[in-house]
Amino acid sequence: MSEGNENLVLEAKGLSKSFRLGDGSIRVLADADIRLEEASSLSIQGSSGCGKTTLLNLLARLEKADEGKVSWDGYEMEASSSPSSRESVMRADFLGVVYQAYYLIPELNVLENILMAARLSAGANRESMDRARSLLSRMGVSDKERQIPTKLSGGERQRVAIARALINNPRVLLADEPTGNLDERTGGQVMDLLLATCNEEKTGLILVTHNPSFAEAADSRVFLKEGKLSSRWEPEAEETKANDEDN
Ligand SMILES: Nc1ncnc2c1ncn2[C@@H]1O[C@H](COP(=O)(O)OP(=O)(O)O)[C@@H](O)[C@H]1O
Ligand SMILES: [Mg+2]
Repeated sequence: MSEGNENLVLEAKGLSKSFRLGDGSIRVLADADIRLEEASSLSIQGSSGCGKTTLLNLLARLEKADEGKVSWDGYEMEASSSPSSRESVMRADFLGVVYQAYYLIPELNVLENILMAARLSAGANRESMDRARSLLSRMGVSDKERQIPTKLSGGERQRVAIARALINNPRVLLADEPTGNLDERTGGQVMDLLLATCNEEKTGLILVTHNPSFAEAADSRVFLKEGKLSSRWEPEAEETKANDEDN
């Protein structure tokens, strides 16, 4: 599906999605395209309710599109079809997801939360345990491995959620406003860790964020507006920044 020589790890073409609303419907995505190069990061900005989460769900094949195609590592799928069981297995290898609200399981401790995501059907073995501990250390929360999530701060929860998302060495991590519930300083620390770790591990990153400076830290930056992704942004506040970048 890709043209040219880029090494695309994730690609979507012509994604459209409408939701029924009363008697009518709202079109959230309208022929949207997205391309993520291997081991690179891409930020997505857009106003609340414009369809960013819907887009990530379609890329993860957690939701069906009306139309369009999604490719994972060159494996092309009809985005309007339900994922096959093979694709659901592929997803566990291919993708990690981080949400604004962390979604840690409250009755499991930190280490158990991460090991839950380990795809090894035999459960937690030595290899996944080592990997979980190394990720916790990279995230600066090694000392919390036996703690339960309700006793962690927001920043610590998100560090654990990032470790969990990376446990299976995914090719791509989708992060949906990962710092949305954190104060600016904590959010900045979590974002630095997220970007640096994805970079070190050569994990592709799609980052949805409202914070322009976090968005700028990604290798490339797009905006979702009226159902389409573009590299330009109209509102005044962003215009100046975009112009500055061009120089
Ligand atoms: N399952 C759904 N059913 C109906 N409408 C939905 C559903 N999911 C999202 N929407 C609507 O689609 C629009 C985009 O939502 P969303 O993707 O969550 O936006 P964002 O993440 O950019 O804030 C919103 O108007 C939302 O209310
Ligand atoms: Mg959202």
